[in-house]
Amino acid sequence: MVKRYGGVHALRDVDVTIRRGEIHALVGENGAGKSTLGKILAGVVRPDGGTVSVGGRAVHYRAPHEAIRDGIAMIDQELALVPARSVLDNVFLGSEQHRAGVAKDRQARERFRALAARTGFDLDPDAPVGSLRVADQQKVEILRALARNAELIVMDEPTAPLTPDEAQRLHAIMRDLRDRGTTIVFVSHFLREVLALSDTITVLKDGRFVQSGPASEQTQDSLVLAMLGRSLDVAFPDPAPPADDAPVVLRARGLTRAGAIEGVDVTLRAGEIVGIAGLVGSGRTEVARALFGADRIDAGTIELDGRALRLRAPADAIRAGIAMLPESRKEQGLLMLRSVGENITLPHLRLVAGGGVVRRRGESARARELIERLGVKCDGADAPVASLSGGNQQKVALAKWLMKTPRVLIADEPTRGVDVGAKSAIYDLLRGLAAQGVAVLVISSELEEVLGLANRVLVMRRGRVAAELSSDEATDEKVLTAAFGTSRRVKGIDEEEAA
Ligand SMILES: Nc1ncnc2c1ncn2[C@@H]1O[C@H](COP(=O)(O)OP(=O)(O)OP(=O)(O)O)[C@@H](O)[C@H]1O
Ligand SMILES: [Mg+2]
Repeated sequence: MVKRYGGVHALRDVDVTIRRGEIHALVGENGAGKSTLGKILAGVVRPDGGTVSVGGRAVHYRAPHEAIRDGIAMIDQELALVPARSVLDNVFLGSEQHRAGVAKDRQARERFRALAARTGFDLDPDAPVGSLRVADQQKVEILRALARNAELIVMDEPTAPLTPDEAQRLHAIMRDLRDRGTTIVFVSHFLREVLALSDTITVLKDGRFVQSGPASEQTQDSLVLAMLGRSLDVAFPDPAPPADDAPVVLRARGLTRAGAIEGVDVTLRAGEIVGIAGLVGSGRTEVARALFGADRIDAGTIELDGRALRLRAPADAIRAGIAMLPESRKEQGLLMLRSVGENITLPHLRLVAGGGVVRRRGESARARELIERLGVKCDGADAPVASLSGGNQQKVALAKWLMKTPRVLIADEPTRGVDVGAKSAIYDLLRGLAAQGVAVLVISSELEEVLGLANRVLVMRRGRVAAELSSDEATDEKVLTAAFGTSRRVKGIDEEEAA
C-alpha cells in the first residue's frame, strides 16, 4: 500500500493482512499513517499504489459508500456527524431505515432501541447531535456503524473521548462484535487497551510497516520500542509543590451555571498544578468553560490576582492572561487552511476575532522551538494544519497557547490523541510552566495523568466538587469513590445511577 500527499509519504509499501473476526490494532506515533491506512480500507481515500483485496477479491473503492456496500464502515477520528440532525437521523443516515414515512420512523425507532439496549448507550434519539458531548457523539458513530451491519469496522481512536468506564463498556461491545464474527480494525494510543483487547497488533512508523503479530507476544515496552525506535520511561516524578508563599493567582467562588455546575470553588496558586477528575458529565469541562468566559455563569465570582474579573467572552479571559486548551479538537480554534506556523503565532485576540496575520521574527523562532519540542510531524511550518494527522493537530493547538506564557493555563484533556512520546513531552511542558509560576488546571479522564501531575485534585460529581485531595492523599480508590459517590465501584455504572 502506498499513499503520498505531495512530498509526504503517508504510507510506503505497507502490507497488512486482516483476518476475519479478529480485533486488529494499528499503533504508531502521530503521523505514522494509521488513519490513512484505515481510510484506504474504508474507501475514504484512494491509495496511490498497491491493492486492497477483500475476501480474495481485489477492490478499488472510490468512495465510502462503495466500501459500505461490502460491509466495511469507519468511525472517524474526527467525528463525521451532521450536528443539526437528530441522533436517530444520524444513526440511520444513508441506510435502509432512512426513508420518509411514519412506518419507517417507527421501524427506525425500534431498531434504535434494540441497538441502544445492546450497547447500553443511553441516548435520546431526538436530541440534535450538535448538542451532545463528544463522548456521546462517539456513541452515535458506533451505533451508526452497527446499524449498517458492518462486517468490518475501522475504529479510529474510538475510546479517546471516553472515560475509563465508558471505554470499558466499548471494549465489551468490541469483543461481543468480534465473537459474532465482525472484524474490527482499531487505532489507539492507549497501549494497555491495545494489549488487552486485540488479537493482532500491527506497528507503523513514518508510513512504514514495522511489525505485525499476535498481541500475546507483545508488551507495552516492546510496542513503545517498535513505535518510537527507542524505549521511553513515562514515569511521573512527584509533583514539585508550589512555594509556601506562592500567591493565589485565580480564585473562583460559588461558580454556578444552571443544570451544569453548582457552588464550585477553585483556587489556583502560582506554580501549582491542580487536576480535575470526575466522570464525563460531572461538570469538569463546564468549570473550565466558566473560568474561560466561554459560558456565562449564573452566580459566583472569579478573581485574578485579587481583582474581580468579569468574563463576558473568552476574549476577556485571554486579555487577562487566561489560556485554555479546549477538549474538542474542532473547538480548538485552529484555522485548518492556514499554516502550522501561522496557527501557532497568530495573536490569540485576533484569532478569536478572526483578524489578519502578524508575524514577527522572534515569534517564528519560538514557534519552531515548540514544533520541535512537541515533535509536531509536518512538512515544515508552512504546511496547512489540515494536512496534519489528528495527534499533530492537537500538538499545534497546545503550542498556540504556549507562545506567550499565560498567567493561568486551563488544559482540558491535553494529551487526548497524542502518542506516548508526545505525552511525556506535554507533561514536561506543563511542569515547566508551573515551575515558571504559571497556575495550571488540568482536566483528564486518565486518572494516572491527573494523579501524576497534580499537586491537588478536585473530584467533581454531579456539578459539585465532591472531594479535594492533596497529591499525598489522592489515590485511584479515593478519587473513584468520590467520583461515583459510593465506596464500591460498580463497573459500567452511569453517572445518574451513581448518585
Ligand atoms: N490530507 C492530507 N494532506 C496532506 N498530508 C496528509 C493528509 N492526510 C495525512 N497526511 C500526512 O500523512 C501522514 C500520516 O497521517 P495519518 O493521519 O495517517 O497519521 P496517524 O498515524 O493517523 O496519526 P495520529 O496518531 O496523529 O492520528 C502524516 O504525515 C500527515 O501529515
Ligand atoms: Mg490518526
